[in-house]
Amino acid sequence: MITSPESHADKLPSLSLEEKASLTSGADFWTTKPVPGAGVPPMLLTDGPHGVRRQAEGNDHVGLNASVPATCFPPAAGLGSTWDPELLARVGQALGAEARAGGVSVLLGPGINIKRSPLGGRNFEYLSEDPVLTGELGAALVAGIQSQGVGASLKHFAVNNQENDRLRVSADVDARPLREVYLRGFQKVVTAAQPWTVMCSYNRINGVYASEDAWLLTDVLRGEWGFTGLVVSDWGAVNDRVKGLAAGLDLEMPSSGGVTDAQIVEAVKDGTLDEAVLDTAAARVLQLADRTAEAREAAEDGGAVYDADAHHALALEAARRSIVLLKNEDGFLPLDPDAAGRVAVIGEYARTPRYQGGGSSLVNPTRLENALDAIRALASAEVVFAPGYTPGQDAPEEALIAEAIEAARGAERVVLFLGSELESEGYDRTGIALPAAHRDLLDAVLDANPNTVVVLSNGGVVQTAGWDHRVPAVLEGWLLGQAGGPATAEVLFGLANPSGRLAETVPARLQDTPAYLDFPGELSRVRYGEGLFVGYRYYDSREMEVSYPFGHGLSYTTFAHAGLQTTATADGGVRLSVEVANTGDRAGHEIVQAYTSLPGSAFTRPRRELKGFAAVHLEPGQTKTVQIDLARQDLSVWHAGLGRWILEGGDYLLEVGASSRDIRQSATVRVDGDDLTQPLTTGSTLLEWLAHPAGGPAITAVLEKAAAEGNQRAQLLIDPEGRSLIGSFPLTRLAAFPGSPLTPDALEGLLRQVSR
Ligand code: BGC
Repeated sequence: MITSPESHADKLPSLSLEEKASLTSGADFWTTKPVPGAGVPPMLLTDGPHGVRRQAEGNDHVGLNASVPATCFPPAAGLGSTWDPELLARVGQALGAEARAGGVSVLLGPGINIKRSPLGGRNFEYLSEDPVLTGELGAALVAGIQSQGVGASLKHFAVNNQENDRLRVSADVDARPLREVYLRGFQKVVTAAQPWTVMCSYNRINGVYASEDAWLLTDVLRGEWGFTGLVVSDWGAVNDRVKGLAAGLDLEMPSSGGVTDAQIVEAVKDGTLDEAVLDTAAARVLQLADRTAEAREAAEDGGAVYDADAHHALALEAARRSIVLLKNEDGFLPLDPDAAGRVAVIGEYARTPRYQGGGSSLVNPTRLENALDAIRALASAEVVFAPGYTPGQDAPEEALIAEAIEAARGAERVVLFLGSELESEGYDRTGIALPAAHRDLLDAVLDANPNTVVVLSNGGVVQTAGWDHRVPAVLEGWLLGQAGGPATAEVLFGLANPSGRLAETVPARLQDTPAYLDFPGELSRVRYGEGLFVGYRYYDSREMEVSYPFGHGLSYTTFAHAGLQTTATADGGVRLSVEVANTGDRAGHEIVQAYTSLPGSAFTRPRRELKGFAAVHLEPGQTKTVQIDLARQDLSVWHAGLGRWILEGGDYLLEVGASSRDIRQSATVRVDGDDLTQPLTTGSTLLEWLAHPAGGPAITAVLEKAAAEGNQRAQLLIDPEGRSLIGSFPLTRLAAFPGSPLTPDALEGLLRQVSR
């Protein structure tokens, strides 16, 4: 933060009540209000997560009006599959540089909500179904963006996992999944990267609007995590401005036309709002003006420019790394670019790429390259094309399918582009099956020529069960941004080695998904009934069949893992190291994934949970030692009774491998936990007393003495079978039984002994 004499933060005392209130809401759709007399500048905030959407005219927040051209990087569904924080930091830097060049002070992203259901309409804008992966990648994006003097806006805080009724729905979620799944990613990004702004979501959480949830915006975000930035509302998320301000919502966007500013002034004047609360919010706006001053000045001086070619090249690199090779029977891929036989490229998405989703994240790309042209440029043989379907049309079109059959019949190899229809902010998906037109085309093409590789373009997962057994190879291409076409062609022909790994499970059926019975809720409430068991946490715990597991992704080379070793870290976490060798003949990336579980835990736990990972690049024959730290915080569980994180001590099972279902090595690691000994009371059970270091001997002595004196109830309480029958009774209840050895005097004596 700039603390020079010109610092905007210093101007707070000189501002009037009205000026301070005016600072806390927008001037229009995208800018904050200036205070001209005091020299406080307006700040420009624009979307979004995978490209800068700066609108020159015709403002809206749902992607309807065009914006100034900007590099369209792969949306988060693609970026999440790279599992590579270093790459995402570079994408973040590029996003920050473009924002900076456009005079943008805050870029409204990244979006890091958990993909609770594959039906979530904005899943393409989110990174993963796992909070650790989400948090590490989100932190890298934030650090990259902010390295350019531009603020990130971590969104949508919090528990915004569906579009249905998104402005009112209450996400009703228990304390543990709330902390361990839905907030953990936010916690990681805030503590690791300190975003300059956090955007509160539209929805309610356990009945309270995020925009006026003091627990969320102040107690947790600032009190527990140490957030020092500003909270901005999602566009139109404010329900009650004065209540929101008091809860910790600093800036309302977009403009309320001055209406809510007046409410704030009124509330201060009539004493219902402490002026100090307004001062705090206004100070945070001024602090943001300070933090972003240098970038604004650079843009005004014309000194902030970016290299569009270099950013396109980075978009290409990110797209290559986002592609996941789901299946590759008998080395069907890569295709030989020099093979003589004709190639048939089928599917309109090869010519008209489906490269991003709809809504506020919609970017106007600086250029757009399709896969068809790139395939033509790479293959020496003749390439024929048939569109096969019309995007946006579900019903199969006979003439297009007939043309595709012709093309497939005359070809040596077929590359078939299929995918989902438009996915967008604002509404959820209704299913995960391919559109009927794509399914029929697939069947017809496979009947004509089984030498077919399928390339998928989709934001949320699509079902592959029911058809992928018929094809030798499947590439999951997600939405790949403006350079997705050449990236796909390079992977198809082996110029690039696919290294993406699934950041979300591909389930066999929609009916198998954990939130299936609880999505999207009713009467503006949605119950998160699956609790902790989101994504692979559910499938692995239930040992269910899935089409492709979390973390899965093939390569054109092979990797061997060996030599798992563990040591303790200074913070009480675990450091592991693994030797990874590239045993094939191509360079490539391996993603090493570390999962833990605690057999015999006193807490409900998923079968395994990702706690760390690393991306490593290896030349053929090369071996590297990969080191991964599992943070103590990540190993902790939320103790709902104590209302805090605790680390349960014990022998953890550490599983290290290449997907949640491809564990290559495991080890047992002793972790020292927190002291969880609860003070004993007469309400504690007999078993709790017996397990306690002081209570156990004390109560045993009482019972043994009484038993020796012939007390039958005491004998029962000593007998192992008797204990298993009534050991769960609190002492007060046992004391109430006729003839109990636990007389009031005995209880008093016991309490005295354990309180010493
Ligand atoms: C979206 C946000 C976006 C904002 C501004 C809202 O509709 O939920 O993600 O940043 O609009 O466009």
